[in-house]
Amino acid sequence: MNEFPNIVVLTGAGISAESGLETFRGSDGTWNKYKVEDVATPEAFARSPRLVNDFYNKRRRDALKASPNKAHFALAALQKHFTESFVLVTQNVDDLHERAGSTNVLHMHGRLNQVLCLSCHKKSEWLTDVTETSVCPHCHAKASLRPDIVWFGEIPYYMEKIENALSRADIFAAIGTSGLVYPAAGFVNLARLSGAECLEINLAANPHSYTLFDEVISGPATKTVPEFAQKLIEKYQH
Ligand code: APR
Repeated sequence: MNEFPNIVVLTGAGISAESGLETFRGSDGTWNKYKVEDVATPEAFARSPRLVNDFYNKRRRDALKASPNKAHFALAALQKHFTESFVLVTQNVDDLHERAGSTNVLHMHGRLNQVLCLSCHKKSEWLTDVTETSVCPHCHAKASLRPDIVWFGEIPYYMEKIENALSRADIFAAIGTSGLVYPAAGFVNLARLSGAECLEINLAANPHSYTLFDEVISGPATKTVPEFAQKLIEKYQH
């Protein structure tokens, strides 16, 4: 049996694009329609909780209506094959990885289907709209719920776990991300330092792709990710 490699995969909005969910920086991207400072910072929420909750209510509804695509299922198959040698980190806040069968997904930017109570600081699963009349299921405080999303200026979740996985990585793949937002954009550098083989899988190469990555695979994720997964599974049989 080949020694299984430690594999770390980072996904971004591009993996959910073919499920019909908007990316952030494409031509019709979210940040072409909204300003980050209006809907994705703690200051924005303090200034206008209703505007921010409505922004995430719409994204929550869209995500619940979407379905996982072949790329999500291919990563779930990779995890099934490589078990604990495989770590999936996502910048995405939808639950399409989970609905495709992935488990222990490290949602470093939080999750749309959870809310955080500003009174008791507990998290709750939340699948409907958050409004001023929403009540915290734990402490029953009113108008105290915020989306469990990591906003700009806040510290992403799971950083220690992610850095630990990257320090042991033999293979690192960045899938469907523009590589513009840190700290996720720096993960390839950490992986390189550990001697990992670094792949970028994207619709098209990013400006920095060829300097940072050993291999650049271009094309839609529903085509490139299943091929990537199949190749790895065939190479490392039980
Ligand atoms: N297949 C593969 N890649 C795709 C596809 C597709 N079908 N469609 C788009 N892409 C690629 C684009 O080429 C782009 O590089 O997905 C990437 C999406 O980039 P962004 O919209 O910047 O999304 P992401 O990289 O996830 O953004 C990172 O920025 O605003 C914050 O918190 C937000 O998590 C987000 C972070």
